[in-house]
Parts: sequence; C-alpha cells; structure tokens
Amino acid sequence: MRRKPPFTASPLRVWAVEDTTVQLTWGNLPAGVVSARAGDSFAERTDHPGGPGSLVLTGLQPGQSHAIDVEHGNGVTSLTATTLAALPGEELSRVATISDLHLGSTRWGFLKTMVEADTHADDHPIRCARACIREAIEWGAELLLIKGDAAHHRREGDYELLGQLVDEFPDLPMILVPGNHDVDDFSDAELPDTVGNRQLRYELGVTQQSLAGLTVVVGDSTIVRQPTGTLSRVGDELIEAARAADGPVLMALHHSFHFAPVMTHWPPSINRREVMPFLRSLAAANPDVLLTSGHSHRNRTRVVSGLTVTEVGSTKDWPGVWAGYTASEGGMRQTVRRAAADDAISWHEYSRGAVMGLWDHWAPGPLDQRCLNVIWRRAGD
Ligand SMILES: [Fe+2]
Ligand SMILES: [Fe+2]
Repeated sequence: MRRKPPFTASPLRVWAVEDTTVQLTWGNLPAGVVSARAGDSFAERTDHPGGPGSLVLTGLQPGQSHAIDVEHGNGVTSLTATTLAALPGEELSRVATISDLHLGSTRWGFLKTMVEADTHADDHPIRCARACIREAIEWGAELLLIKGDAAHHRREGDYELLGQLVDEFPDLPMILVPGNHDVDDFSDAELPDTVGNRQLRYELGVTQQSLAGLTVVVGDSTIVRQPTGTLSRVGDELIEAARAADGPVLMALHHSFHFAPVMTHWPPSINRREVMPFLRSLAAANPDVLLTSGHSHRNRTRVVSGLTVTEVGSTKDWPGVWAGYTASEGGMRQTVRRAAADDAISWHEYSRGAVMGLWDHWAPGPLDQRCLNVIWRRAGD
C-alpha cells in the first residue's frame, strides 16, 4: 500500500534542469505508463506504481525553451522547461552532495506526528539517502560530500546506520563532516572517528581534495551540543585553503548562514556577524568559490560579496534532494534533483504536509535557486 499524501498531491512539474536534462516530478499519476517527449527527447516509465514519481529527459539543447508533453493515465499534460546554458569549456568533473540524512529518525513534522504507514525493511531516512546516493552515482558523481546531520542524534545506533549506508557504496569516494545532530546533547555517546567497514572519517577540521579543474574544501562548522554553528574554528583555514587552491573551489559546510540582523527562521545557524566578514575575506582570497551548506532543510541561493552561496535541502524530507555540481573549464553548474526511487519519493510526498502544509511552500525554493550556472571570473586568466 502506498502512503496517501495528507492533502492535494504535488503537481506534475519541471523540478530540475541542467544544460541538456530536465527532471519532471509529480505527486499523483495513475499506475501504468508515464512518458514525456520534448522534440526528439523521449523518456518513459512502463511500471509506474501509481502515486508520486519522476522522469528525466536527456539530450536537450542547452539554453533553450522546450515544450514537453507528458502522457499518463489521466491524459496529456503540457509543460515548458528552459535548460541552462552550456558551461564554457570542456566538462572536467562531477561532485554530488547530500545532507541532513538524519539516520535513526522515525518521525517527522512540527509535532513529530508523521510516521510511516507501511512496514519496510529499512526506515525512511536510510531508504531516502540510499536513493539519493544511487541516483547521484548514475548521474556521474565521482566524489560524494556528506555535509552533516548524517546521524539523527548522538547515538551509537545512528552512527552504525551511517556505517551500513556508506558501506553499500565502497567504490564511491566520500568526505563526511558532522552537523549539529551528529554531535547533539542527546547522550554521552562518543562521535566515532570513522564509520563503516570502509572506515570513512568524520572530518573535524578543514579537509580538501583536488579534482580536475576544481578543489573541494569542506569544513566542520559545529559547536558540540549546540544546534547553531560557527566559523570561528575553521573560517581562517577555509579562506587560506581557497587562496591556496589558486583555481575554482567548491566549498561545503553543514550550517547555513543567517543574513538578517536577527534570526528570522528556524533553525538557528551561523549569524551575520560571523558570515559577512568571512564572505568578504573569502571573495578577496578567491573570487571563484561556490559555497554550499545544508542544515536548513530547504533550497535557496544568494550572491554575497560576489560569491554564490547555496543551501540544499535534506535527503529525507520534502522535497528529498541531492545536489550535483558539474565543473567545466569556465564555470560550475549546480542542479538539485529529487530522489526518484518509489520507496523514497512516496515518503517525500507524504512529508510535504509538515507544519500544516507550510513545509510544501517553504522547503523547495524557486527553480532558479536550485539549478544555476556560476561562471568563473578568473577562467582563462
Ligand atoms: Fe538537519
Ligand atoms: Fe543541522
């Protein structure tokens, strides 16, 4: 039995774009065949179980408006999608990020009243994270950044779940940093040095890795036993790493940034007094940084001091996403895709109903803040 959404299903829509792909998602289409066509591009599911789902069209022309016809059990729905422009120069590398897996949680919603309707071999957080990682690998990710709140609480069982998850993907290089939930005040359990048989380290400072055309820099923004974050411990080192990279940087943290003088929304995070000087110094050290974080469980983008700063939502609650970063010689593309697997997207659709349905409007963010190009300023210097 599939979980019924608590109110009207999410519409059939264009969820994500790249230069040549479009992801379509829907909350409720009848069981059977669902197909999409845009010019010569065609995608089809013959086994749609009914309810929520996703299709990806490929091979589209970059930077153009595309008329899409989606055929399904209720008829034909016409949509329009505009693909991103092609990035300058040759594609060089692909990195994926996930955050806010919250492995070990079983409930969701403002009052934590939303639970699974059906029995599954695994709870929804691990199913959703697994779907995101599998789909990121299919997309072409050569490195995965797990940017915090992988564990729901400071609990040995949650760290063990994380170990089981990362061991399912032994061939995928990963970098793991804690979020506030990994080091919360739930118990006195020790944050393990590593998780899984593959002994993936929890990185507690600044770590970096070089890929073709890109340096990845990841920092630990947590304050042990506090929900909020800080740059006081790692900020200078992050700036120096960006300066030393002497080329484009993808920087990832768990905590998002609050830009208003007072806190305007949940959850508490790194405040403006720390954020603004950090971003000014970072931009001066290296103008070609895309900085991304999690923690807020929503998708947003701002440009501050000339740097693109993004927040990407959780793997486990609506809309249930992972992000892909494609680096080329001249820039980087971020795309935020929803998990497509049936046993993940059905939970995500249900989880829209949190906070009396407000979560449906709050978490997704606009398409152009999920999927965007950043052109490097120093490319070709
Ligand atoms: Fe979280
Ligand atoms: Fe968090």
